[in-house]
Amino acid sequence: AYVVAEPCIRCKYTDCVEVCPVDCFYEGPNFLVIHPDECIDCGACEPACPTKAIFPEESLPAKWNEYVQLNADLCKVWPNITEKKDPLPEAEQWKDVEAKREYLEK
Ligand code: SF4
Ligand code: F3S
Repeated sequence: AYVVAEPCIRCKYTDCVEVCPVDCFYEGPNFLVIHPDECIDCGACEPACPTKAIFPEESLPAKWNEYVQLNADLCKVWPNITEKKDPLPEAEQWKDVEAKREYLEK
């Protein structure tokens, strides 16, 4: 499955939601996750994300390994999101900031 990693935090552009054919994104306060059992590995979301937050699990940078489990766990508690919405208000400011893990709200 594809995995949403750290660059999404505090941005949440949701362009990924718009292109996903199976609606397998789930939405938290400042981050989205992919349901690993629903993702069909089509790859459409990866180039759609302005922050390059999405990776196939097998090519996820090792520093973000933790996000595999975060996607699997949070997709079970967060609501499904099926339509694109406005990014978070400070998305542009946070887009290129590294080490945003501490800001992840659940
Ligand atoms: Fe959806 Fe395809 Fe991305 Fe999986 S790879 S989350 S099915 S757009
Ligand atoms: Fe996040 Fe990128 Fe989607 S910032 S909401 S993974 S388009």
